[in-house]
Amino acid sequence: MLSAGTTANPHIDKWFNSDERFHLLYPASMQSLARDHWTPLEVVKKAAEFLAAEKNARILDIGSGVGKFCLGAAHFMPEAFYTGIEQREALVEYAENTRTNLDFGNIEFIHGNFTQLNFDDYDHFYFFNSFYENFGFTEKIDTSVQHSHELYQFYTHHLLKQLAQKPTGTRLATYFSCEDEIPENFLTVGSEMDSHLKFWIKI
Ligand SMILES: C[S@@+](CC[C@H](N)C(=O)[O-])C[C@H]1O[C@@H](n2cnc3c(N)ncnc32)[C@H](O)[C@@H]1O
Repeated sequence: MLSAGTTANPHIDKWFNSDERFHLLYPASMQSLARDHWTPLEVVKKAAEFLAAEKNARILDIGSGVGKFCLGAAHFMPEAFYTGIEQREALVEYAENTRTNLDFGNIEFIHGNFTQLNFDDYDHFYFFNSFYENFGFTEKIDTSVQHSHELYQFYTHHLLKQLAQKPTGTRLATYFSCEDEIPENFLTVGSEMDSHLKFWIKI
């Protein structure tokens, strides 16, 4: 059972002062992937402030990597519940170890494909262009999963369908999205970071 988090513990807070400090929570092999694949803390904070709109909101990070979004969001906006779904088991282990070390009770990390989830279980969503690796020219995190243009289309279509069925008021924050997965009935209500971070609400 998840329970909402608390703030103001200097032993925990220090890890969230900078990206460089936060990345020390992970082994060197994961630190070196951070620039391209893990959300900067400044972006995490802005996205979490938008998504944690109401107390006890259930927020899903679609493709959670080593857990940086969920961990940062739970630190900056502790009165919400965060779930990260990630297809690579090794990354989920890093995320879960870090969650345990920092003692967050309002985060869960799931190993699996986001297509297995029931979107009714979540109120709001974060998406850092997770299907981008399926384009041939991109740097891959590792070779443990398959990539293809067909997968890009399949995942994008599935996500669009799930989001389109969500109720009015559902919030979505996207970072470096190609916007192929955004249904027509989601309106942009703000943007930050040179428009790389966008905020959307379902009408
Ligand atoms: C750009 S990283 C973002 C990580 C994290 N959200 C963050 O912001 O720090 C995208 C992650 O999505 C994962 N991913 C891609 N497709 C997925 C899928 N179909 N189901 C679950 N995870 C997926 C990748 O393995 C990768 O770890």
